[in-house]
Amino acid sequence: MPFNTARVLLERERELETLREGLDGARAGEGTLLLIEGPAGMGKTALARAGRAAAGQAGMMPLEARASELEQPFAFGVVRQLLEPVVNQDSGHADLFAGAAGPATRLFEPDERRPLGANVGFEALHSLYWLVVNITDQAPVLVLVDDCQWVDRESLRFLDYLAQRIEGLPVAMLLTGRSPDAAAEKTESLWAHMASRPSAVALYPRPLSQSAAVALARERMGAEAAEEFCRACHTATGGNPLFLRELLRALDAAGVVPSAAAADEVQAVGPAAVSRFVLHRLATLGPAATELARAVAVMGDDSELPLAGRLAGLSEDVAGEAADDLVRADIFVHAERLGFVHPIVRAALYEDLAPGERQARHAAAAEALAAEGAPAERVTAHLLLTTPTGDQRRVATLRSAAADAAHRGGMRAAAEYLRRALAESPAAQERAETLAELGRCEVAIMQFEAAEEHLRTALTLDAALTTRAVAAFWLGRCAIVSGGRSARAAADALASLAGELQTADPERSLELGSELLSVTTAFTQLRGGLAVQLQRFRDQARGHPGFEAVARIHSAYEQILRGEPATAAMEEVEQALATGLPRSAQSNAALLALLALRLGERYELAVQLVDAALVRARQEGHATRQGILHAQRAAITLAQGSLHDAQAEADTGLLLVEESHFVVPLLVAVAITVQVERGELDAADRLAQTGEAFGIANRAHISDFLTARGRLRIAQGRLEEGVADLLWCGERREARGQCWPSDWRAHAAPAVAALGERQLAVKLAREQLAAARRVGAPGALGMSLRTAALAIGEDERLALLREAVSVLERSSARLELAHALADLAAELSRAGGRREGRDAARRAAKLAGQCGATAMAESAMAELHAGPGRRARMELTGPDALTAAEWRVCRQAAEGRTNREVAQALFLTEKTIERHLSSAYTKLGIRSRFQLPAAIGE
Ligand SMILES: Nc1ncnc2c1ncn2[C@@H]1O[C@H](COP(=O)(O)OP(=O)(O)OP(=O)(O)O)[C@@H](O)[C@H]1O
Ligand SMILES: [Mg+2]
Repeated sequence: MPFNTARVLLERERELETLREGLDGARAGEGTLLLIEGPAGMGKTALARAGRAAAGQAGMMPLEARASELEQPFAFGVVRQLLEPVVNQDSGHADLFAGAAGPATRLFEPDERRPLGANVGFEALHSLYWLVVNITDQAPVLVLVDDCQWVDRESLRFLDYLAQRIEGLPVAMLLTGRSPDAAAEKTESLWAHMASRPSAVALYPRPLSQSAAVALARERMGAEAAEEFCRACHTATGGNPLFLRELLRALDAAGVVPSAAAADEVQAVGPAAVSRFVLHRLATLGPAATELARAVAVMGDDSELPLAGRLAGLSEDVAGEAADDLVRADIFVHAERLGFVHPIVRAALYEDLAPGERQARHAAAAEALAAEGAPAERVTAHLLLTTPTGDQRRVATLRSAAADAAHRGGMRAAAEYLRRALAESPAAQERAETLAELGRCEVAIMQFEAAEEHLRTALTLDAALTTRAVAAFWLGRCAIVSGGRSARAAADALASLAGELQTADPERSLELGSELLSVTTAFTQLRGGLAVQLQRFRDQARGHPGFEAVARIHSAYEQILRGEPATAAMEEVEQALATGLPRSAQSNAALLALLALRLGERYELAVQLVDAALVRARQEGHATRQGILHAQRAAITLAQGSLHDAQAEADTGLLLVEESHFVVPLLVAVAITVQVERGELDAADRLAQTGEAFGIANRAHISDFLTARGRLRIAQGRLEEGVADLLWCGERREARGQCWPSDWRAHAAPAVAALGERQLAVKLAREQLAAARRVGAPGALGMSLRTAALAIGEDERLALLREAVSVLERSSARLELAHALADLAAELSRAGGRREGRDAARRAAKLAGQCGATAMAESAMAELHAGPGRRARMELTGPDALTAAEWRVCRQAAEGRTNREVAQALFLTEKTIERHLSSAYTKLGIRSRFQLPAAIGE
């Protein structure tokens, strides 16, 4: 039996106990995160193996992976190692990929040559998480990843995502990694981030003590080994188990007698000489073994014997024998494929090669793998370690690897491969294609500056029209997503290519034309040209119903922005949607249709549209699009006055998009407004600060944010700041030639009045009112009437408030109605209409309570019970007492969804759902799910 398989681990009782406790906890459904950290050779892998054995005995299902330096660029490489065995074993699959896990299937699809393109927005994390949850239905799971310092970035993100949501799952995560200073910079922060989780249990195996060293030395060299000799071994290695074992092995092999006299000899060897020992030991196995070991050091662990043999220049027989020798010497693991027992040994061999030689060997490995038809990404791992040679075949391989990575959602890896492909100096056509693909990946990972540069360069090259069209298309998307980068260049490129393609490929030309409209619509500096463009597009679209519909949507949206009557515009949108939009316009034109419907207050249709799009985005695993859609739903539910739902939608949206995304200002705006309406001004203030920290104030699409912050400041009594925000919003809107929505005016007018600038207040209020009457959307008109009442005051106030109430009664803006009723009640009680006033106050309180507007409900109640000091208390039970999150969970559960389904829909964990439900049951005074619908009045 080889020495190194270490039957016992010395001085690790405490660590093993902790591991066992962690596993027990996981089996009992308390997810645990165990980290083992330490320098090379300290015994991390050995401990992890012990943990794995214990898990196996306890009936847990192990998911294992070992990261390696060479495979670090592979997007989701480690995740695939972890999950592929289970996925392959389970032939039916249906259960594993049930529910939100569905989109993860594409991570396990065989690699194939596919153009980089389809669904670049795929985001694996959420679906992978649910895949793991589904696996736990079979047995408690151990997720074991060794050598995390080399985990690819995407997999590390997933591990972090899982760690964050592990609570309540029968999952133990056991991760090992070198101490951060030795780890690659890129992964350092995420590892540190995980280690800093309060729930993480970190183990730091210590060097072995002197007595342990003595025991090990005597085991190897014989019981008669002298104490001094053994101690010298300990000192020389600092108690590092690997170094100690290697040192002993080397001394043994050299025939050193373990006497006291030999202690000096040991000291002379010095510490950290493992590599020297190993190389020496290897040399004793003969040249074939050395060559094979070198070949595997270059190829990476898990190499096929024939291939490694060929690279080492050995015949198959010789290679086979050499491999056996290496396994016997405990340098290679005993397995079907070749690989090192210790990564440190691989590193020693690898570093022993001269840099030029390493590159040559990687180039040869790439050649050999490509000749065998190995997956492009595997070939690519080697290409990345060679210098460019201008080989055009490499360009093809790298692009194909990029397409595979992108298909799995590894956009960063894809971008890296494409950058490397460019370094191989492809010719103009291929260069343009590669640049366009790269730009597209960079847009997806929000590296806008790089994307801009690459896409613009692609446009200057002498390449096919279709290729430049792709570049122009993505430059347009880049402009939109980034909030205006290169907007003019994008518009110019789209216009000129749409023109060039008009006769050759009218459909494509229209696609570009529709993108052009989106870019032009979005940015103030371009909007001057919109009318002409729209006319041209409409002419060109004749006979293409889908694109005619796109034109309709644009013109309807413009009508609304100009403040024209909503009814006509809404008819246009409805017709357009009934016709159906072309595939390419599904995102931009559809979003514009949604915005128009929102402004025209056609909420029912808008929600239908959002829901249908959400189903699609979920199936595709497109996280960002889901975030955008949740933002729309957040804004709609807010307008309808359901603060609970609005907050939950905004929270969900914020979980799904990156901070720099254009939809973030809207999400934050909704969240702020909800808190303002609730009277939770501190919470609102914190949100505003978060928004500012995201850099929202410097972005293109910030009107919603400015309005929300303005309202917050006014509510805080910081009137001047509030008015400044609202006026700033107004300036921005006017610069765009936009007179609707003019809610900034509505909110500014009463504050301006309170600041004593009556003339300006009246002017703003009247302008607002006139615009609202023209547009005729009842929610906005009602609000405008109410704020005008407050701003203009005295003799007109009562009439305006009465009108506001009657208009709002015809709308779905319940919270706005509550405001109007509350203001009316206050006005009436001043004017002596006590009875009518009490009636209005009662309705206001009830409505406000239903909406979740606690503060307003309380003050309306106070109004009712008039008399100072007698503040009515809100009830702490019943549906009104539910928090936003509880409400949302209850609603979903009441519709008959299981906890898991609710968790998937809300991007939460099942544990969180359980917690919300149990708290909600207490407040509602119910015991079971069946009572829910009645209890929340759904
Ligand atoms: N507590 C121990 N008692 C005895 N031997 C040990 C102990 N811990 C580790 N070893 C032995 O030391 C060697 C190195 O351990 P291991 O491979 O676990 O180190 P590691 O920390 O994983 O190193 P690396 O960072 O290179 O992966 C192995 O041969 C292992 O069997
Ligand atoms: Mg290890």
